[in-house]
Amino acid sequence: MEKIVSLCKRRGFIFQGSEIYGGLANTWDYGPFGVELKNNLKRAWWKSVVYERNDILGMDAAILMHPKVWEASGHVENFYDLKSDCKSCKKRFKAADLKDPKKCPECGGELTDSRPFNLMFKTHQGPIEEAANLIYLRPETAQGMFVNFLNILDSRHPKLPFGLAQIGKAFRNEITPGNFTFRTREFEQMEIEYFVHPDQADKAWQDWIDYRFQWYLDLGMKKENLRQRPHEKDELAHYAKACTDIEYNFPFGWSELEGIANRTDFDLKQHAKASGKDLTYFDDAAKQRFYPYIIEPSGGVDRSVLAFLANSYHEEKVKEDTRVVLKLHKQLAPTKVAVLPLLRNRPEIVELAKKIAFDLKKSWVAVYDDTAAIGKLYRRQDEVGTLYCVTVDVQSLEDKQVTVRDRDSMLQDRVSIDKLKEYLREKL
Ligand code: GAP
Repeated sequence: MEKIVSLCKRRGFIFQGSEIYGGLANTWDYGPFGVELKNNLKRAWWKSVVYERNDILGMDAAILMHPKVWEASGHVENFYDLKSDCKSCKKRFKAADLKDPKKCPECGGELTDSRPFNLMFKTHQGPIEEAANLIYLRPETAQGMFVNFLNILDSRHPKLPFGLAQIGKAFRNEITPGNFTFRTREFEQMEIEYFVHPDQADKAWQDWIDYRFQWYLDLGMKKENLRQRPHEKDELAHYAKACTDIEYNFPFGWSELEGIANRTDFDLKQHAKASGKDLTYFDDAAKQRFYPYIIEPSGGVDRSVLAFLANSYHEEKVKEDTRVVLKLHKQLAPTKVAVLPLLRNRPEIVELAKKIAFDLKKSWVAVYDDTAAIGKLYRRQDEVGTLYCVTVDVQSLEDKQVTVRDRDSMLQDRVSIDKLKEYLREKL
């Protein structure tokens, strides 16, 4: 973990939030490479669940929602952890993490009895801070899709089974955030709410587990580091009939990446009751009216980014040196190509290299770098997972060819400049 955290900072993937002020604990800012990786991951998800299927529609709901949403959803009543406070050092602990429920694990002081602590962040809408204006930052994106079920039926008339997909920020006042970006109070989710006939829910649930598991594998996740873990009955969320987690073997142990739950008709029934709107579905063919069940694959963007970073981190001996390389899948790699001049004190070489980089930028995320000697430039690009390095040398001025180096094999090809795009297009 230390190596990953250090690489993330050193190379501009992820920084401590508000760092110049000493940092705000457990907040993280994505730098230039981090944001590219994160966007690529979200794009890969959207492509797989929206564009490559014909039963899912995308949407993007507001973070701030009517407070009644969270009463109907059960979050006001049920979305809490039990916490204990230390009477001496005032630190707060999640009761489930304590070995001795009476003794502070930090200072040995006496702990209070455990009390429920609601994980939703509260704020006020408008300029007056009073109870009537209380609203919550959403703790999951899911509810934005449930409350739009009727809008989607009325505007797009989809037939069951169909789903909604959304990516967005969620907020939870976690008692024990930690492990870098694994558990934070502000994070991003990628969620699907898939509406099915109750009789088809069990099969749809299993199909989604398989589909989502395969997505991680297709993007290069090592099979031995990925597993499915069905929830025990006593760990199910208040709305779920069944849930299976996809877990990744992080450097700190097996932990959840994504949960795929069968939420039954709980949400639509609750919102129908609380809003007074009819949220049933009418099946024309069967002449049947019913509440669909909901299958929910719910993943974390930040957790996935962390898992893909850990999965791709690779060290190898090259002569006397250690080469660190991020072997990210080509869809995820933040930069696809880097153009490097072999001699940075030769203006003709620099000029040609810049011209090539400028041209490649029109097709891919490409960078130009001349701030170090070539060996160092290669290492730098390896560390951020750049797929190909194009080197311009003295010879290039004469034969109009460049050297293209593959990140993983380090094999080099000599390619004519006017065929370079074609060459890369075949690989990328
Ligand atoms: N709508 C269902 C739901 O929110 P969840 O298991 O509580 O289910 C889904 O969250 C996913 O969101 C998790 O699998 C995880 O990837 C991500 N997630 C949840 N809490 C998080 C946190 N505090 N920090 C980072 N990611 C989190």
